[in-house]
Amino acid sequence: MFRQAVKLACHTWFGACLTWGLIIDWAGCVVITTILPDGQAQRRCCQWSHYVFRYFMLSSCPWIRVSRPPVEEVTRLLHRDRVCVLMNHTSFGDSIMFVATTPSNIIWRYRTLMKSTLFDWPFLGGVCRMVGHFPVLFRSKDENSFAVDKPEQAKIMEKAAVPHSSALLEAPTSAAPPIPQVKAHVESDGCLCLFPEGKINRNPAVLCPFRRGTFGVAEEMNMAVVSLTTVGCDESWPRESPVGGLPARIVIRLTEIAEAGHGLTAAALQEKAEASMQADVTSLLQERDA
Ligand SMILES: *[C@@H]1O[C@H](CO)[C@@H](O)[C@H](O)[C@H]1NC(C)=O
Repeated sequence: MFRQAVKLACHTWFGACLTWGLIIDWAGCVVITTILPDGQAQRRCCQWSHYVFRYFMLSSCPWIRVSRPPVEEVTRLLHRDRVCVLMNHTSFGDSIMFVATTPSNIIWRYRTLMKSTLFDWPFLGGVCRMVGHFPVLFRSKDENSFAVDKPEQAKIMEKAAVPHSSALLEAPTSAAPPIPQVKAHVESDGCLCLFPEGKINRNPAVLCPFRRGTFGVAEEMNMAVVSLTTVGCDESWPRESPVGGLPARIVIRLTEIAEAGHGLTAAALQEKAEASMQADVTSLLQERDA
Protein backbone atom coordinates (compact mmCIF):
# COMPACT_ATOMS: atom_id res chain seq x y z
CA MET A 1 0.00 0.00 0.00
CA PHE A 2 2.68 2.46 1.10
CA ARG A 3 4.98 1.28 -1.70
CA GLN A 4 2.21 1.80 -4.22
CA ALA A 5 1.68 5.34 -2.98
CA VAL A 6 5.41 6.11 -3.23
CA LYS A 7 5.52 4.73 -6.77
CA LEU A 8 2.52 6.76 -7.78
CA ALA A 9 4.10 9.89 -6.30
CA CYS A 10 7.35 9.26 -8.23
CA HIS A 11 5.51 8.69 -11.50
CA THR A 12 3.37 11.77 -11.01
CA TRP A 13 6.27 14.03 -10.10
CA PHE A 14 8.41 12.76 -12.96
CA GLY A 15 5.47 12.96 -15.37
CA ALA A 16 4.96 16.61 -14.40
CA CYS A 17 8.68 17.39 -14.79
CA LEU A 18 8.72 15.61 -18.14
CA THR A 19 5.73 17.55 -19.43
CA TRP A 20 6.97 20.94 -18.25
CA GLY A 21 10.48 20.10 -19.31
CA LEU A 22 9.36 19.29 -22.84
CA ILE A 23 7.33 22.48 -23.11
CA ILE A 24 10.24 24.60 -21.83
CA ASP A 25 12.67 22.74 -24.07
CA TRP A 26 10.44 23.37 -27.07
CA ALA A 27 9.93 27.05 -26.24
CA GLY A 28 13.68 27.58 -25.83
CA CYS A 29 14.40 25.82 -29.12
CA VAL A 30 11.84 27.99 -30.93
CA VAL A 31 13.61 31.11 -29.65
CA ILE A 32 17.06 29.75 -30.55
CA THR A 33 15.91 28.68 -34.02
CA THR A 34 14.41 32.12 -34.61
CA ILE A 35 17.49 34.11 -33.67
CA LEU A 36 20.41 31.94 -34.80
CA PRO A 37 21.41 30.69 -38.26
CA ASP A 38 20.65 27.03 -39.06
CA GLY A 39 23.81 25.12 -38.19
CA GLN A 40 24.41 27.00 -34.99
CA ALA A 41 20.79 26.79 -33.93
CA GLN A 42 20.80 23.00 -33.99
CA ARG A 43 23.87 22.84 -31.78
CA ARG A 44 22.48 25.33 -29.32
CA CYS A 45 19.16 23.46 -29.23
CA CYS A 46 21.09 20.29 -28.32
CA GLN A 47 22.81 22.10 -25.48
CA TRP A 48 19.61 23.72 -24.30
CA SER A 49 17.94 20.28 -24.27
CA HIS A 50 20.83 18.95 -22.22
CA TYR A 51 20.33 21.57 -19.52
CA VAL A 52 16.56 21.15 -19.47
CA PHE A 53 16.75 17.35 -19.30
CA ARG A 54 19.47 17.47 -16.69
CA TYR A 55 17.96 20.00 -14.33
CA PHE A 56 14.25 19.47 -14.94
CA MET A 57 14.11 15.72 -15.30
CA LEU A 58 17.17 14.16 -13.70
CA SER A 59 18.14 16.48 -10.85
CA SER A 60 14.54 17.01 -9.87
CA CYS A 61 14.32 13.27 -9.14
CA PRO A 62 17.30 12.77 -6.78
CA TRP A 63 16.13 9.20 -6.13
CA ILE A 64 17.40 8.33 -9.59
CA ARG A 65 21.15 8.08 -9.06
CA VAL A 66 23.47 7.89 -12.02
CA SER A 67 27.11 6.83 -11.95
CA ARG A 68 28.90 7.47 -15.17
CA PRO A 69 32.52 6.95 -16.15
CA PRO A 70 34.98 9.71 -15.18
CA VAL A 71 34.65 12.81 -17.28
CA GLU A 72 38.12 12.29 -18.85
CA GLU A 73 36.96 8.96 -20.25
CA VAL A 74 33.67 10.41 -21.46
CA THR A 75 35.62 13.18 -23.16
CA ARG A 76 38.21 10.85 -24.66
CA LEU A 77 35.60 8.54 -26.19
CA LEU A 78 32.70 10.83 -27.05
CA HIS A 79 34.28 14.23 -27.72
CA ARG A 80 35.72 13.30 -31.11
CA ASP A 81 34.70 13.70 -34.72
CA ARG A 82 32.53 11.00 -36.30
CA VAL A 83 31.66 8.76 -33.39
CA CYS A 84 28.75 6.33 -33.55
CA VAL A 85 27.45 5.62 -30.04
CA LEU A 86 25.32 2.54 -29.45
CA MET A 87 22.87 2.18 -26.58
CA ASN A 88 20.63 -0.62 -25.44
CA HIS A 89 17.02 0.37 -25.34
CA THR A 90 14.31 -0.28 -22.78
CA SER A 91 12.23 2.88 -22.75
CA PHE A 92 11.68 6.38 -24.00
CA GLY A 93 13.72 7.49 -20.98
CA ASP A 94 16.96 6.22 -22.53
CA SER A 95 17.28 9.20 -24.84
CA ILE A 96 16.58 11.55 -21.92
CA MET A 97 19.32 9.81 -19.99
CA PHE A 98 21.83 10.19 -22.83
CA VAL A 99 21.07 13.87 -23.34
CA ALA A 100 20.99 14.66 -19.61
CA THR A 101 24.25 12.87 -18.76
CA THR A 102 26.40 13.85 -21.75
CA PRO A 103 28.20 17.14 -20.97
CA SER A 104 27.01 20.20 -22.88
CA ASN A 105 30.40 20.70 -24.53
CA ILE A 106 29.96 17.25 -26.15
CA ILE A 107 26.24 16.77 -26.72
CA TRP A 108 26.04 19.29 -29.59
CA ARG A 109 27.85 16.79 -31.83
CA TYR A 110 25.14 14.11 -31.53
CA ARG A 111 21.99 13.36 -33.50
CA THR A 112 19.87 10.26 -33.63
CA LEU A 113 17.69 8.37 -36.08
CA MET A 114 14.18 7.85 -34.80
CA LYS A 115 10.81 6.51 -35.86
CA SER A 116 9.28 9.16 -38.12
CA THR A 117 5.90 9.14 -36.35
CA LEU A 118 7.56 10.57 -33.21
CA PHE A 119 8.04 13.82 -35.15
CA ASP A 120 4.26 14.25 -34.99
CA TRP A 121 4.14 14.32 -31.21
CA PRO A 122 3.34 17.63 -29.57
CA PHE A 123 6.46 19.48 -28.35
CA LEU A 124 8.70 16.41 -28.61
CA GLY A 125 8.31 16.36 -32.39
CA GLY A 126 9.14 20.05 -32.67
CA VAL A 127 12.22 19.70 -30.47
CA CYS A 128 13.47 16.75 -32.52
CA ARG A 129 13.09 18.73 -35.74
CA MET A 130 14.83 21.80 -34.37
CA VAL A 131 17.69 19.73 -32.94
CA GLY A 132 18.05 18.07 -36.34
CA HIS A 133 17.33 14.40 -35.65
CA PHE A 134 16.71 12.15 -38.63
CA PRO A 135 13.50 10.20 -39.30
CA VAL A 136 13.37 6.48 -40.03
CA LEU A 137 10.46 5.82 -42.35
CA PHE A 138 9.15 2.45 -41.21
CA ARG A 139 6.54 1.03 -43.54
CA SER A 140 4.54 -0.73 -40.86
CA LYS A 141 3.44 0.10 -37.32
CA ASP A 142 4.38 -3.39 -36.16
CA GLU A 143 7.43 -3.00 -33.89
CA ASN A 144 8.89 -6.25 -35.20
CA SER A 145 8.78 -5.18 -38.79
CA PHE A 146 11.80 -3.10 -39.72
CA ALA A 147 11.04 -2.61 -43.41
CA VAL A 148 11.59 1.02 -44.39
CA ASP A 149 10.39 3.05 -47.34
CA LYS A 150 13.63 2.61 -49.27
CA PRO A 151 13.61 5.45 -51.84
CA GLU A 152 12.45 8.03 -49.28
CA GLN A 153 14.86 6.74 -46.65
CA ALA A 154 17.73 6.94 -49.12
CA LYS A 155 17.10 10.67 -49.46
CA ILE A 156 17.46 11.06 -45.72
CA MET A 157 20.69 9.06 -45.65
CA GLU A 158 22.43 10.45 -48.72
CA LYS A 159 24.51 13.56 -49.04
CA ALA A 160 23.09 14.83 -52.31
CA ALA A 161 20.73 17.74 -51.95
CA VAL A 162 17.23 16.71 -52.90
CA PRO A 163 14.11 18.83 -53.11
CA HIS A 164 11.97 18.96 -50.06
CA SER A 165 9.31 16.32 -50.51
CA SER A 166 7.97 15.04 -47.27
CA ALA A 167 5.49 16.92 -45.11
CA LEU A 168 6.92 15.01 -42.22
CA LEU A 169 10.01 17.10 -42.16
CA GLU A 170 8.32 20.44 -42.14
CA ALA A 171 9.53 22.80 -39.47
CA PRO A 172 7.13 24.29 -36.97
CA THR A 173 7.77 27.62 -38.64
CA SER A 174 6.58 28.16 -42.18
CA ALA A 175 9.97 28.18 -43.94
CA ALA A 176 10.62 24.64 -45.15
CA PRO A 177 14.06 23.45 -44.05
CA PRO A 178 16.29 21.40 -46.32
CA ILE A 179 15.96 17.65 -45.82
CA PRO A 180 18.45 16.74 -43.14
CA GLN A 181 20.97 14.21 -44.39
CA VAL A 182 22.68 11.72 -42.19
CA LYS A 183 25.85 11.40 -44.25
CA ALA A 184 26.21 15.13 -44.66
CA HIS A 185 26.03 15.43 -40.89
CA VAL A 186 28.76 12.81 -40.40
CA GLU A 187 30.83 14.30 -43.19
CA SER A 188 30.91 17.58 -41.31
CA ASP A 189 32.34 15.55 -38.40
CA GLY A 190 29.02 14.96 -36.70
CA CYS A 191 28.31 12.03 -34.40
CA LEU A 192 25.36 9.68 -34.06
CA CYS A 193 23.76 7.99 -31.06
CA LEU A 194 21.77 4.93 -32.14
CA PHE A 195 19.78 2.09 -30.64
CA PRO A 196 20.93 -0.96 -32.62
CA GLU A 197 18.13 -3.16 -31.25
CA GLY A 198 15.84 -0.98 -33.36
CA LYS A 199 13.02 -1.17 -30.84
CA ILE A 200 12.36 -1.25 -27.13
CA ASN A 201 13.66 -4.46 -25.59
CA ARG A 202 11.07 -6.34 -23.52
CA ASN A 203 13.65 -8.57 -21.86
CA PRO A 204 16.57 -6.23 -21.16
CA ALA A 205 19.05 -8.75 -19.71
CA VAL A 206 19.32 -10.31 -23.17
CA LEU A 207 19.84 -7.82 -25.98
CA CYS A 208 17.62 -8.13 -29.06
CA PRO A 209 19.45 -9.01 -32.28
CA PHE A 210 21.04 -5.84 -33.67
CA ARG A 211 19.83 -4.40 -36.96
CA ARG A 212 22.51 -4.57 -39.63
CA GLY A 213 21.26 -1.29 -41.07
CA THR A 214 22.39 0.52 -37.90
CA PHE A 215 25.99 0.03 -38.98
CA GLY A 216 25.73 1.10 -42.63
CA VAL A 217 26.90 4.67 -42.09
CA ALA A 218 29.58 3.59 -39.59
CA GLU A 219 30.98 1.23 -42.24
CA GLU A 220 30.82 3.65 -45.10
CA MET A 221 32.28 6.60 -43.22
CA ASN A 222 34.62 4.54 -41.06
CA MET A 223 33.21 6.05 -37.88
CA ALA A 224 34.58 5.14 -34.48
CA VAL A 225 32.03 2.92 -32.71
CA VAL A 226 31.53 3.20 -28.96
CA SER A 227 28.94 1.42 -26.86
CA LEU A 228 27.19 3.10 -23.96
CA THR A 229 25.76 0.24 -21.97
CA THR A 230 23.75 0.86 -18.85
CA VAL A 231 22.00 -0.99 -16.10
CA GLY A 232 19.07 0.27 -14.11
CA CYS A 233 17.22 2.43 -16.62
CA ASP A 234 14.52 -0.17 -16.87
CA GLU A 235 13.94 0.01 -13.10
CA SER A 236 13.40 3.72 -13.28
CA TRP A 237 11.20 3.44 -16.36
CA PRO A 238 9.78 -0.09 -16.53
CA ARG A 239 8.71 -1.35 -19.90
CA GLU A 240 5.06 -1.56 -18.96
CA SER A 241 4.80 2.02 -17.59
CA PRO A 242 3.75 4.88 -19.80
CA VAL A 243 5.97 7.17 -17.69
CA GLY A 244 9.12 6.60 -15.62
CA GLY A 245 10.60 8.23 -12.55
CA LEU A 246 10.97 5.33 -10.10
CA PRO A 247 14.00 5.15 -7.81
CA ALA A 248 16.95 3.42 -9.43
CA ARG A 249 20.70 3.28 -9.47
CA ILE A 250 21.87 3.65 -13.04
CA VAL A 251 25.40 2.68 -13.99
CA ILE A 252 26.85 3.69 -17.35
CA ARG A 253 29.78 1.98 -19.06
CA LEU A 254 31.56 3.08 -22.22
CA THR A 255 33.46 0.60 -24.39
CA GLU A 256 35.31 1.33 -27.62
CA ILE A 257 34.18 -1.25 -30.19
CA ALA A 258 36.04 0.03 -33.24
CA GLU A 259 38.43 2.89 -33.77
CA ALA A 260 37.94 5.47 -36.49
CA GLY A 261 39.26 4.22 -39.82
CA HIS A 262 38.62 0.57 -38.84
CA GLY A 263 37.75 -0.54 -42.36
CA LEU A 264 35.25 -3.09 -41.01
CA THR A 265 32.04 -4.06 -42.78
CA ALA A 266 28.62 -3.43 -41.25
CA ALA A 267 28.29 -7.16 -40.63
CA ALA A 268 31.59 -7.31 -38.75
CA LEU A 269 30.74 -4.21 -36.73
CA GLN A 270 27.36 -5.67 -35.87
CA GLU A 271 28.88 -8.91 -34.68
CA LYS A 272 31.54 -7.19 -32.57
CA ALA A 273 29.06 -4.75 -31.07
CA GLU A 274 26.53 -7.43 -30.20
CA ALA A 275 29.07 -9.58 -28.41
CA SER A 276 30.73 -6.70 -26.61
CA MET A 277 27.51 -5.04 -25.44
CA GLN A 278 26.01 -8.32 -24.25
CA ALA A 279 29.21 -8.96 -22.27
CA ASP A 280 28.95 -5.47 -20.75
CA VAL A 281 25.28 -5.92 -19.83
CA THR A 282 26.00 -9.27 -18.21
CA SER A 283 28.98 -8.04 -16.23
CA LEU A 284 27.27 -4.81 -15.15
CA LEU A 285 24.31 -6.83 -13.89
CA GLN A 286 26.62 -9.21 -12.02
CA GLU A 287 28.53 -6.32 -10.43
CA ARG A 288 25.33 -4.66 -9.39
CA ASP A 289 23.82 -7.76 -7.86
CA ALA A 290 27.03 -8.94 -6.21
C1 LIG B 1 20.29 -2.01 -20.85
O1 LIG B 1 20.15 -3.32 -20.32
C2 LIG B 1 20.26 -3.39 -18.93
C3 LIG B 1 20.36 -4.84 -18.51
O2 LIG B 1 19.18 -5.52 -18.63
C4 LIG B 1 19.12 -2.64 -18.29
O3 LIG B 1 19.19 -2.72 -16.88
C5 LIG B 1 19.20 -1.19 -18.74
O4 LIG B 1 18.12 -0.46 -18.24
C6 LIG B 1 19.25 -1.09 -20.25
N1 LIG B 1 19.61 0.28 -20.62
C7 LIG B 1 18.85 1.11 -21.27
C8 LIG B 1 19.44 2.44 -21.59
O5 LIG B 1 17.74 0.84 -21.61
